[in-house]
Amino acid sequence: MGLKIFSVSFALLCCFCSLGFCDQDGFLSLACGGTTNYTDSSNIWWITDSDFISTGKTTYVDNIEGNSSGVSLRFFPDSKVHNCYRLPVRNISSLILVRSQFVYKNYDGRGKPPAFSVSLGTAMASTINLTTNDPWTEEFIWPVDKDTLSFCLHRIRNGGTPVISLLEVRPLPPEAYKSGMGDYPNKLLRKSYRIDSGYTNGSLKYPADPYDRIWDADKSFTPFHVTTGFKIQVEFNLSGLSESPPPAVLQTARVLARKEVLTYNFPLDSLGDYYVVLYFAGILPISPSFDVIINGDIVQSNYTVKTSAASALYVTRKKIKLLNVTFKSKSFFPQVNAIEVYELVDIPPEASSTTVSALQVIEQFTGLDLGWEDDPCSPKPWDHVGCEGSLVTSLDLSDINLRSISPTFGDLLDLKTLDLHNASLAGEIQNLDSLQNLEKLNLSFNKLTSFGSDWENLISLQVLDVQNNSLDGVVPDGLGELKDLHLLDLENNLLQGTLPDSLNRQSLEVRTSGNLCLSFSTTACGDASSSPSIEAPQVTIVPERNKGGHNRLAIILGAVGGVSLAILLIPLFVFMYRRRGRTEMSYTERAVADVRNWNAAKIFSYKEIKTATNNFKEVIGHGSFGSVYLGNLPVGKLVAVKVRFDKTQLGADSFINEVRLLSQVRHQNLVSLEGFCYESQRQILVYEYLPGGSLADQLYGPNSRKFSLSWVRRLKIAVDAAKGLDYLHNGSNPRIIHRDIKCSNILLDKEMNARLCDFGLSKQMIQPDATHVTTVVKGTAGYLDPEYYSTQQLTEKSDVYSFGVVLLELICGREPLNHSGTPDSFNLVLWAKPYLQAGAFEIVDESLGGSFDVESMRKVAKIAVRSVERDASLRPTIAQILSVLKEAYSIQLSYLAASGHVN
Ligand SMILES: *[C@@H]1O[C@H](CO)[C@@H](O)[C@H](O)[C@H]1NC(C)=O
Ligand SMILES: *[C@@H]1O[C@H](CO)[C@@H](O)[C@H](O)[C@H]1NC(C)=O
Ligand SMILES: *[C@@H]1O[C@H](CO)[C@@H](O)[C@H](O)[C@H]1NC(C)=O
Ligand SMILES: *[C@@H]1O[C@H](CO)[C@@H](O)[C@H](O)[C@H]1NC(C)=O
Ligand SMILES: *[C@@H]1O[C@H](CO)[C@@H](O)[C@H](O)[C@H]1NC(C)=O
Ligand SMILES: *[C@@H]1O[C@H](CO)[C@@H](O)[C@H](O)[C@H]1NC(C)=O
Ligand SMILES: *[C@@H]1O[C@H](CO)[C@@H](O)[C@H](O)[C@H]1NC(C)=O
Ligand SMILES: *[C@@H]1O[C@H](CO)[C@@H](O)[C@H](O)[C@H]1NC(C)=O
Repeated sequence: MGLKIFSVSFALLCCFCSLGFCDQDGFLSLACGGTTNYTDSSNIWWITDSDFISTGKTTYVDNIEGNSSGVSLRFFPDSKVHNCYRLPVRNISSLILVRSQFVYKNYDGRGKPPAFSVSLGTAMASTINLTTNDPWTEEFIWPVDKDTLSFCLHRIRNGGTPVISLLEVRPLPPEAYKSGMGDYPNKLLRKSYRIDSGYTNGSLKYPADPYDRIWDADKSFTPFHVTTGFKIQVEFNLSGLSESPPPAVLQTARVLARKEVLTYNFPLDSLGDYYVVLYFAGILPISPSFDVIINGDIVQSNYTVKTSAASALYVTRKKIKLLNVTFKSKSFFPQVNAIEVYELVDIPPEASSTTVSALQVIEQFTGLDLGWEDDPCSPKPWDHVGCEGSLVTSLDLSDINLRSISPTFGDLLDLKTLDLHNASLAGEIQNLDSLQNLEKLNLSFNKLTSFGSDWENLISLQVLDVQNNSLDGVVPDGLGELKDLHLLDLENNLLQGTLPDSLNRQSLEVRTSGNLCLSFSTTACGDASSSPSIEAPQVTIVPERNKGGHNRLAIILGAVGGVSLAILLIPLFVFMYRRRGRTEMSYTERAVADVRNWNAAKIFSYKEIKTATNNFKEVIGHGSFGSVYLGNLPVGKLVAVKVRFDKTQLGADSFINEVRLLSQVRHQNLVSLEGFCYESQRQILVYEYLPGGSLADQLYGPNSRKFSLSWVRRLKIAVDAAKGLDYLHNGSNPRIIHRDIKCSNILLDKEMNARLCDFGLSKQMIQPDATHVTTVVKGTAGYLDPEYYSTQQLTEKSDVYSFGVVLLELICGREPLNHSGTPDSFNLVLWAKPYLQAGAFEIVDESLGGSFDVESMRKVAKIAVRSVERDASLRPTIAQILSVLKEAYSIQLSYLAASGHVN
């Protein structure tokens, strides 16, 4: 008999249920992680969820209280993938109820209930915290406008693994709850309470409610003891109620029989907007009237419940954290039959379909599965995509093999930032001229060969980075028309010729180094431009921490002494006073006052300089701001004479600043200043001459002596240079950030002792107590700290980065940027780091001939790799580097002694 009934109902279900829907109700009921389909005691047909989701793992728990059959679960241990159910919706202009149950019950034996969030369509709908409740049930009412609804689980920080056990979809009467949802469909309803007032015997659900809403008993609401439940069988005319509450629910009421005031208190999860529906039905032979008061406001006065009629009251309250509903008698006893409370959750608009289809085409173009599904902005922006509201405003496809800028990029009209660096782009820069909102465009490190046209259309462009491409020819005029452009990086291309005059303005920084010949003036392409260094100031002074205050005012020129000095200083003082104005006077005062301490620096006349250099006969180098000449002082001392081309229009203040600095800084590993000359417009610095040339000359120059640079010599040079830098960072006052540490700024004397040089010209005088300095990025390509580059905040760690690059050069014997070879070896840091981290010393400079102690090499490699960490806080200090280098040096010395080598 029992078997017969079972087979009959099973046959019926088979006929009615297809695609997961049971035709008689349109229900979809998923047992998540389940392995079998079954019918429950309410005759609801549950199916497995595997047709609706492709991610996650399944398990089963059997220790749920009051449920001997246990429950299946799907959980999502993989943090990367989207965990989304795609729920079919049969009628695309309707309303559905989505209910899900989340169960943890220690299924993984770890005793750590997870927390995570869930989204419906574009809306982030709720946060589940299974520590608070386990199981946890969520119910949403969703206005459908598509044939598929995405229901997704999202990890949250430290939240653990999302898990789900049941998911149900139920159609609702289409006109229900409309007054709460705003301009359809911009709100969804998240259930807080659904109370069957006066009912105390469990919950009421399907089939009593054909829409399978669950109506809870109201016995847990205070003050329960003052009320009485009434249950009377009456027929109702329900056609006036679009929510169609089940008659069984309306047949019970809570009626306050002894007092005048009936109150429900509803604790709420969070501050938000809430929607309240109150149901009344005339189940008593009288017509009571009462005021309805919500949170102290009378929302309806003298509300009357008519016998045998059903009615409802809809109220929305914004930004509330607490909800109480009071019924205050006017005549007879106040009553209520049912209450629903929903939180109103915004449904963000979808991104424009043009944007979505353009992005889809771009995803195909990448040949990768970027996981771009549903909406690009909501509930969470796709990987690589950034949004403002429903607008896609940034796209970062750097390091992805794109090959060309396809026309669909031109459809992303809201883009403000586009980053396509290192995307293997070749050919012309094209298809971007429609992007009128674009502010930052990064096309660096590609193989682009031509600028293309119509740059003037990119009217919002502020930053254009095309460094390290193969762009040739001239720079297009259109760029000059971009009024907001403030950074144009053209470095390391094959550009030549004259830059458009319109680019020559104060507000715009143009970086041009590493091109064939590129400048504003037609005549400037002399040999000076062959310097790989950016023409820029190189020293920054950081005032000593914890030492505020200004120096005393002490501008007594007479006290300085020396006629020539006075002649020097008067115009200077006037110049600086004029430029800086009264407010910064103390700076000038300090500079002048400090002149008294230039004891060591000698002041030369231009005539003396001319004589010493034999009329600037022998060029021995190109510094960061001009050529360097060999000089011979009358006392027979050789000097290096730096003549400054004031092309960058750095003022006399910068010059005086550097002289002041250099004269104070004296250390055996820093090149010392012998004197200077400042006459009319000429600014000349006289340094001691170091006959050994620079480390760069030794490693890479035409007369390179790379083979004689043994590991022990390289270590000695590194130790010396580190000592010099350590003095700048920690020994000198004020502290100094060098800003341009590189091999060509490490000079060697006859005995191969190393000294740091080229303090260029300092530019920034900064507020006391600074931990960093915000500056326009300066430095030399290949040595530049990427964090400084992106934040423009300069600290000692930027020098550490550059020093790390020098160490890598000593280890590998190659330059930081190398245009030949394969792209992955292009950048020394990126190339060497993984090898050295793995202790793979195959990349150590061949000219060392393997004669190094492995432990010594390991130490240096390790500290070098740490020094070039992207995150500056992970880099060591120069003092730490110095101590490691000293150890490595002594290890190598013992190794040589043990193996019988000398040097
Ligand atoms: C459960 O039912 C669905 C839909 O009717 C069907 O696709 C699926 O194969 C069934 N699963 C099992 C385990 O019978
Ligand atoms: C008990 O488990 C069964 C099967 O997993 C499920 O259908 C049912 O809803 C569960 N009951 C409760 C009260 O959780
Ligand atoms: C879809 O819903 C509309 C009301 O929103 C209703 O009129 C129509 O009959 C429904 N269509 C189906 C196929 O259920
Ligand atoms: C979950 O709730 C517990 C207890 O209320 C709380 O300690 C924990 O921080 C919550 N987790 C999250 C992610 O909110
Ligand atoms: C409460 O419900 C149970 C079944 O769910 C029923 O047996 C019992 O009679 C009900 N009690 C009342 C007072 O209605
Ligand atoms: C039910 O009420 C509606 C108005 O709300 C009315 O038009 C209709 O005639 C009533 N039906 C019955 C059977 O009384
Ligand atoms: C109801 O809410 C109002 C305003 O939020 C509050 O002042 C009042 O004390 C509450 N009443 C009760 C009985 O909790
Ligand atoms: C309340 O309304 C009822 C019927 O609508 C009316 O008879 C009664 O006088 C009203 N009471 C007050 C106090 O306004």
